[in-house]
Amino acid sequence: MSLTLAILVSGRGSNMTAILQAIAERRLDAEVKIVFSNNADAPALATARGYSIATASIPHKGLPREAHEEKLLEVLRPLEVDFVVLAGYMRILSPRFLREFKHEQGYFRVINIHPSLLPAFPGAHGYEEAFEYGVRVSGITVHLVDERVDHGPILAQMAFGRLSDDTLESFKSRGLKLEHKLFPEVLQNIARNGVQYFQRTTSVVAHDSPVASDLATASKGVTA
Ligand code: GRF
Repeated sequence: MSLTLAILVSGRGSNMTAILQAIAERRLDAEVKIVFSNNADAPALATARGYSIATASIPHKGLPREAHEEKLLEVLRPLEVDFVVLAGYMRILSPRFLREFKHEQGYFRVINIHPSLLPAFPGAHGYEEAFEYGVRVSGITVHLVDERVDHGPILAQMAFGRLSDDTLESFKSRGLKLEHKLFPEVLQNIARNGVQYFQRTTSVVAHDSPVASDLATASKGVTA
């Protein structure tokens, strides 16, 4: 099935570009109906227009969250997209907004990419915090969005090691390359096979519970 998408961005838009490029090269069977930004100056908007994609921007400054989201919904509702894709959208979406995109299976049709191996290092500075912490392995996560920030069913993850001579810049740039590869691949996997993820079983494994591998076997779905 071909997916229809709305992409939400706040800045540079390199992930958005990777998605548009994958569509142009027919690696991703999808159509981007709109690129939306809360920042009228986001470089991503000009890039999207270069790909002949419709764009819209509504600055959030001075508007209560609900009012801003309502305006965004007015843009999105008529488009009836399959998925809202967050590609560096630096706004938290309220449960009320998410409910508009509830799938009959219970998840929200909203997908985010985050620059860490969630649940480690949520928030706006995933690369920086992982690097400063001194992790040996970090990574990126593509996940369905739920009511919590940088949280929700994990669709796919990729890990990368920190090299001994890494600077924050080289660490970030290796991660970003993986983001550009993974995001279109996950979307294409959804286009082909639908949404698939491991159901969470329990947040705490009690002493006499089945071991993690049994839990994984018992859970439904596979990662992208
Ligand atoms: C990426 O690192 C993404 O993981 C995070 O925000 C950044 C956006 O970068 N959510 P870009 O705008 O896609 O270049």
